[in-house]
Formats: sequence, structure tokens, C-alpha cells
Amino acid sequence: MKIFITGLAGMIGFHSAKHFSKLGWQICGLDNFNNYYDVDLKRARAKILKSDFGIDVINADIHNISQQQNEISECDLVIHLAAYTNPRHSFEEPQKYIDTNITGTQRVVELMEKLQLPVIYASTSCVMHGQPLPWSEKDSPSHQNNAYGWSKRVNECQFINSQIFRTIGLRFFSAYGPYGRPDTAIFLFADAISNGTEMTIYNKGQMKRDFTYVEDIAHGIECTVKHIMSLKENLEYNEIYNIGYGKQVELLEYVDEIEKQFGRSTIKNFVDAHPADTPETWANITKIKNLGYQPKTSVSDGVREFINWYKQYYNKN
Ligand SMILES: NC(=O)c1ccc[n+]([C@@H]2O[C@H](COP(=O)([O-])OP(=O)(O)OC[C@H]3O[C@@H](n4cnc5c(N)ncnc54)[C@H](O)[C@@H]3O)[C@@H](O)[C@H]2O)c1
Repeated sequence: MKIFITGLAGMIGFHSAKHFSKLGWQICGLDNFNNYYDVDLKRARAKILKSDFGIDVINADIHNISQQQNEISECDLVIHLAAYTNPRHSFEEPQKYIDTNITGTQRVVELMEKLQLPVIYASTSCVMHGQPLPWSEKDSPSHQNNAYGWSKRVNECQFINSQIFRTIGLRFFSAYGPYGRPDTAIFLFADAISNGTEMTIYNKGQMKRDFTYVEDIAHGIECTVKHIMSLKENLEYNEIYNIGYGKQVELLEYVDEIEKQFGRSTIKNFVDAHPADTPETWANITKIKNLGYQPKTSVSDGVREFINWYKQYYNKN
């Protein structure tokens, strides 16, 4: 199996590539190493992929993905993860979300229509904000008030309505783990504790999340890869799957776990909800469980793995 991954130096791209390499699958892909967050962290992931797994991350942009046509045409499928993430940030720079997530994705769609390879692409749980819980793929997505949410819903429409025969959209639920994204809750809380600065807690802590350890996410993607590759080439298949842990955790319990791992706390600033926030997320994972998915990392184990990595990587206590 040979797989081309966009956003390969990102959090989920990095962990998926490692996971797939261990299965003996060949991985290649691209990333534009943009500076939305710490570029050194992206480079560190790429360095590990090269040194430990022999994987090269091509420094390229999805807007020009047609330049990788030769390399991609030798692959069995494409996993499209490259995107601007984060609903809160998308209020500040909506155009970036339109450019990369929608226009950039359209370039991916066009090349895949030409090459007729199956595609697995990243959507997000955000498209279900406000709908009755737990969120099922059978229910309709909701109204989106932020460019990240609606750009990802547009991605689903782009692939479902494309001429590509086999596509799977994945709605990830709050991924976390080592080499994670610095704009996620666990990272921001760890930074606050470690630096002794104020921890901002939105909606006064009244939030629940379906936090999903990134290794479980990689395992979920593996299940969908095996499934899409088992389908007949000319079968029209455009499905959406949730990848979550399948359980809710109170935000303040998550904070407790992080504090436990540090053995200390910091000042908390309880503020109102951000307009992009949803009070609760919760994945119904029945559909992907039918493909063999079984998440196994509890929040306490996952938080411990993250904090151990964080302390070592940043040389902090
Ligand atoms: N992490 C989560 O909790 C989560 C939840 C829901 C959905 N997702 C989706 O999963 C995917 C991966 O997320 P992640 O958490 O690994 O984010 P990430 O930001 O770590 O990874 C995305 C990567 O894409 C790259 N990229 C961005 N624009 C690009 C472009 N124009 N050309 C080439 N590369 C580009 C970035 O440099 C980055 O390395 C994204 O599509 C995201 O929207 C993630």
C-alpha cells in the first residue's frame, strides 16, 4: 500500500504516517510548513519521519498539488489533511480558511478526479455544533457561524459532489497527544501551568468534549483505509465517518488531569463562551466500529503521554 498525505507535517499527518509505516505501508506527502503555529514543531515532526521511517515531507502547497501528479499517480490513495484549523482563529482571518480549506481543497479534488484514486479527507465534528447529542453521521449538519466550520462542511460537499468514485470524510473529535497542536486546549493549559501564567477557561468551564487520543485517530484512519481499498474501483461511495473516543469528559476534569500530571496548578480566569464554541461534543462511533475501530486510550493515559512528551520536548517541569 502506498499513500500520499497532504498536511503530512501536521499533528494527525505525522501520527498517521508513523502508524501506517509500522504496518509496512509506504508513505509520502506534502506540507507547506506555514507559520500558523510554531514551524519548528512541524520541522521536528518531519525530521522524525525522515530519520525513523525514511519518509520525506515535500515542501509544497496544495494549491499547486498538480505538480505532484507523477508521485501521486503511483499511490493507491490520498489522505487529505492539509488545512487551516481552529474555529476561534477563523473569526480573525476567514480568508485564509477560504483560500486553503476551500480553494486549495478544490485543487485536490480536481487532481483526484483526473487520477481517479480514492480519497480520505478531514472534516470536523464542528459541522454538527448544536445538534442533538451524541452526533451521528445520519443526522444533518448544523448552521455554521465560523469560517473553519463552514469551510469543512463545504469540503464534505466538494467531495460528495465530485466525480471521484470513492471518498470518505472523517469528522475528527478533539484530537490530542504528543507532538500536538499548540493552539489546542491541552497545550494552552500546559503552557499556563508550566509558565505560571493565567489559564483562560471559556464558558466558565461549563463544557464537555469527546477528547480523542491521536493514536486512536490514526487507528481509525487505518480502518477507513482498509475499507475504502476493499471497495470495487467503480463503485460510487461517498461516506462520512466520525472518529471520536465515544465518551464525554467535563472540561474541568480534563484540566484536573493536566494539573495532576504537573503536580501543581495556576490561576484560572473563567470567561464567557467564545462565539465559535459549542458547549458539548460527543461522537456516536457505531458506524466506524463496524469497520473494526476500537479506541483504547483513556483521558488519564492520554494526558499523561502528552505531558510526559511536553516536559521532555520543551525541557520543562
Ligand atoms: N486535531 C483535531 O482535533 C481536528 C479535529 C477536527 C478536524 N481536524 C482536521 O484534521 C486535519 C489535520 O489537523 P491537525 O490537527 O493535524 O492540524 P495541523 O495544523 O497540525 O496540520 C495541518 C497541516 O497542513 C499544513 N497545511 C496548511 N495549509 C496548507 C497548504 N495550503 N498546503 C500544504 N500544507 C498545508 C500545515 O502546515 C499543517 O502542518 C485538518 O484538516 C483539520 O481541520 C483536526
